[in-house]
Amino acid sequence: MNTTIVSRKARPEDVEALFELIQGYAEKGIMLPRSRVALLRHIDSFVVVEDAGKLIGCGSLFRLGSDLVEIRSLGMSEGYKGMGIGSRIVDALIDEARRMNIPKVMALTYEVKFFLKNGFSVVDKEIFPEKVWTDCVHCSKRNNCDEIAVVRILE
Ligand SMILES: CC(C)(COP(=O)(O)OP(=O)(O)OC[C@H]1O[C@@H](n2cnc3c(N)ncnc32)[C@H](O)[C@@H]1OP(=O)(O)O)[C@@H](O)C(=O)NCCC(=O)NCCS
Repeated sequence: MNTTIVSRKARPEDVEALFELIQGYAEKGIMLPRSRVALLRHIDSFVVVEDAGKLIGCGSLFRLGSDLVEIRSLGMSEGYKGMGIGSRIVDALIDEARRMNIPKVMALTYEVKFFLKNGFSVVDKEIFPEKVWTDCVHCSKRNNCDEIAVVRILE
């Protein structure tokens, strides 16, 4: 990987760049929008990647239950896809889940091939009542959700 590309925990000053990256995907319907206030409140849950100081990718971990976390807001800027950076963010989030002692990491996604490559398996969404009853019930797609649930069980 290019040496100008580094990953790190997000900081409050990343909020604006995070907002713009996530909002671009939210407008295409492939990510849930996150307000600046919500990003600031949950900034510690984000990992970001930057290229020579410019934020080019992000991902976050959200606790759904005592043994389950969700990967959220995972995205790369255009021009930086397919370079292994998304996989690197997933690795960092998995390390974080291990540190938290949480054995199950899930995501709802359209990028199934990417998650399979990163050690996840496709499962039925209904096995995650924590997700269905906290987020899905408020989602406009709840009756015709076409996202695929994936999970990785940590050793
Ligand atoms: C999904 C995403 C985060 C993957 O990040 P990435 O840095 O492109 O992924 P990596 O380079 O680590 O892995 C690429 C692999 O994923 C797949 N892939 C999915 N979308 C791809 C794309 N647009 N370009 C290249 N590879 C892509 C390929 O199969 C590739 O596998 P290979 O290395 O065996 O060829 C990124 O494509 C993205 O931002 N997508 C839009 C937002 C999104 O859908 N996020 C997921 C929300 S859960």
